Amino acid sequence: MNLQGKLINDRFQLVEQIGKGSFGVVWKAWDQRKKQPVAVKLESKSAKKHLENEFQIYKKLQAKEFDGFTKCFYYGPCLNNTYNAMVLQYLGPSLSSLFGWCKKNLTLETICNIAIQLTYRLECFHSIGYLHQDLKPENITIGTKYGNDQDTIYLIDFGTSVRFKSANNVHINPGNSDRIMGTCRYAAIRMHFGHYQSRRDDLESLCYVLLYLFYRKLPWQDVKDKNPRKKWKIVREMKRNKMLKNKWPFEDAPTAFLDYHRYIHSLGFYTKPNYRIIRGIFRRLQKQLLGNDKNIPPFCWSKKKRYLKHESSKNQRAPKF
Ligand SMILES: Nc1ncnc2c1ncn2[C@@H]1O[C@H](COP(=O)(O)OP(=O)(O)OP(=O)(O)O)[C@@H](O)[C@H]1O
Ligand SMILES: [Mg+2]
Repeated sequence: MNLQGKLINDRFQLVEQIGKGSFGVVWKAWDQRKKQPVAVKLESKSAKKHLENEFQIYKKLQAKEFDGFTKCFYYGPCLNNTYNAMVLQYLGPSLSSLFGWCKKNLTLETICNIAIQLTYRLECFHSIGYLHQDLKPENITIGTKYGNDQDTIYLIDFGTSVRFKSANNVHINPGNSDRIMGTCRYAAIRMHFGHYQSRRDDLESLCYVLLYLFYRKLPWQDVKDKNPRKKWKIVREMKRNKMLKNKWPFEDAPTAFLDYHRYIHSLGFYTKPNYRIIRGIFRRLQKQLLGNDKNIPPFCWSKKKRYLKHESSKNQRAPKF
């Protein structure tokens, strides 16, 4: 069914599909009331209820007014009750696109900024009792110029997020599950084993994202196997050998990465991470790089042609059908 032009909740008109994930599709749409673009996540009514879970998390985050999480304007049935829709504030490009636009060449200052902001995001996310469980460049975006938040890093996509604390604040106990979730490249080693995750594992995934941005490639990235279970197993062994057995493969990376990695591997299953320690590691590195120069833009993509073209596109104008 072609959904272009269809109205959600008599207000949000679907313009073009911008993403397709494992659980549904994402559309750019036009809010006819507020005259601004929005993003609409659609999930077929017959699918599993991932969107409902995601909406519950957005509600909790919104109540706390944390920075770096999109506002949710609507959640409910639509299109003759065939879909559920979640309407979100429209964000800028994902880190995956920005990385490509910079020809996989981000400055270390930029990576430090990403690390610092994402540590805040995870701290907030964990504070409402949830784990993200799918940290990757595609699930990290920036804001927009017209929203005046182009220097804010956003964390999106809570489709695989789960609670690690009950409503009355009790931490789950260690255990195992058959279900492996997330993305093999960035998953924490304990996810490969099917162990229940805790806060330290989201931080481990963040470590892989940062190393990927710095090195442009992770050592296990080329592993291919038609059988996903086999692939997860091969990558698990590579991660174990390289990351845990004193064979740190990122020799010429600044020591900040190793310090970060060592810190998160010192954390226990129940331990609340000290997010300030992690930010401190990257702040110190940033200070070494920049000195007291405050004129350097926070992100190196801000002057790239491709980014400027994206920013000046017709995002703000009503679509013509
Ligand atoms: N609020 C938003 N504004 C702009 N673009 C968005 C927004 N939300 C999602 N997107 C785009 O759509 C893509 C898919 O969104 P999201 O990751 O939330 O969906 P998903 O179906 O869970 O995807 P996957 O299963 O691939 O992780 C994102 O990578 C991003 O490029
Ligand atoms: Mg996603």
